[in-house]
Amino acid sequence: MKEYNLSVPMRAYTWDELNEDQRALIEIAKEQTSRSYCPYSHYHVGAAARLANGVIIRGCNQENAAYPSGLCAERSALFAAGAQYPDEAVEQLAIACFTGGHFTKEPGSPCGGCRQVMIETEHRYGGKMQVLLYGENETFVFDSAADLLPLIFVSENLNG
Ligand code: THU
Repeated sequence: MKEYNLSVPMRAYTWDELNEDQRALIEIAKEQTSRSYCPYSHYHVGAAARLANGVIIRGCNQENAAYPSGLCAERSALFAAGAQYPDEAVEQLAIACFTGGHFTKEPGSPCGGCRQVMIETEHRYGGKMQVLLYGENETFVFDSAADLLPLIFVSENLNG
């Protein structure tokens, strides 16, 4: 038997420590929480994706009375980016969460399905996508979506 300890590289920044581009993208993700359609959970999630051509694509969670038919903010942004600019890499993705009348103090944590889609996005364009998880106290920065999901499943796995 062998035991492995998988470690995840992640940095935590205060608002002032983030650079201008990061802050600008997070501001859009925060703005997007106000457009979230979440009458069931009342948990507003906003996302903003920066493409290689500089375009920023917005997303937010979209809920449904048939619960599984809804979609998370991250996937709504990444799928919209893929639909509108299939040839542009997604270089950066920011996420913010708002509930109970305020932005969360600590960063929200993307669900497993969204992590898998982030990895597919990164893999598809062959470069890293930086992920910014905003919280009022601190923002977590992952330089690659792959850092959010160790032992990833990607297209190569299909071929054994
Ligand atoms: N949600 C997201 O949009 N992104 C996440 O990373 C986690 C959860 C949404 C889905 C649902 O509309 C609400 O938050 C509560 O789970």
